[in-house]
Amino acid sequence: MTRILLGCGASAALHKAADLASKLKGAGHEVHAVLTPNADRLVSAQLFEALTGHPALVHEFGEGRMTAMDHISLAQGSELLLVAPATADLVGRLAHGLATDLLTTMALAIPASVPRVIVPAMNPHMWAQPAVGRNLATLAGDGWRVLQPETGEMACGDVGPGRFPETADLLQRLADLL
Ligand SMILES: Cc1cc2nc3c(=O)[nH]c(=O)nc-3n(C[C@H](O)[C@H](O)[C@H](O)COP(=O)(O)O)c2cc1C
Repeated sequence: MTRILLGCGASAALHKAADLASKLKGAGHEVHAVLTPNADRLVSAQLFEALTGHPALVHEFGEGRMTAMDHISLAQGSELLLVAPATADLVGRLAHGLATDLLTTMALAIPASVPRVIVPAMNPHMWAQPAVGRNLATLAGDGWRVLQPETGEMACGDVGPGRFPETADLLQRLADLL
């Protein structure tokens, strides 16, 4: 059983992340979801709470907190940080070491020895931007495992690379870390 911190950005692939959270829990893992504020607007964090059996957090301040410093308490004892889906913006924030919300602050508070995996998902034109490629290369250089997206039709109708992988495929790619 692995204690997984699942960080989710505001992507159209959030429904797949919900399925992933559910399957990880079903496989016996302890999943703690943290959503960006924008992800919480697209789908409620409450969905992840229901699927994982643990509070799903969004904000570092105000109502909904678990502790006085959730970014620290979440990070303690974590065995895997899985950021999925990662938006282009979230990739950039993580690559630059920014701590602008609970998810990115928590990511910085996790000990360097804990494996970090990022699963980007975005429109093919966003995926093709040199800035996005540079940010992902920075993360890879910092020790993150960057899982490549699939090529196919996106929610917006565009076709190309950037699709969030299917759950079974993701679980297979993560097998050695779980
Ligand atoms: C319905 C919807 C779907 C989106 N899907 C994506 C996506 O898959 N990838 C992406 O990089 N941005 C996507 N965006 C844009 C991001 O939500 C936007 O850049 C936002 O600022 C990201 O915030 P976050 O990284 O804090 O979650 C989407 C926006 C909307 C409204």
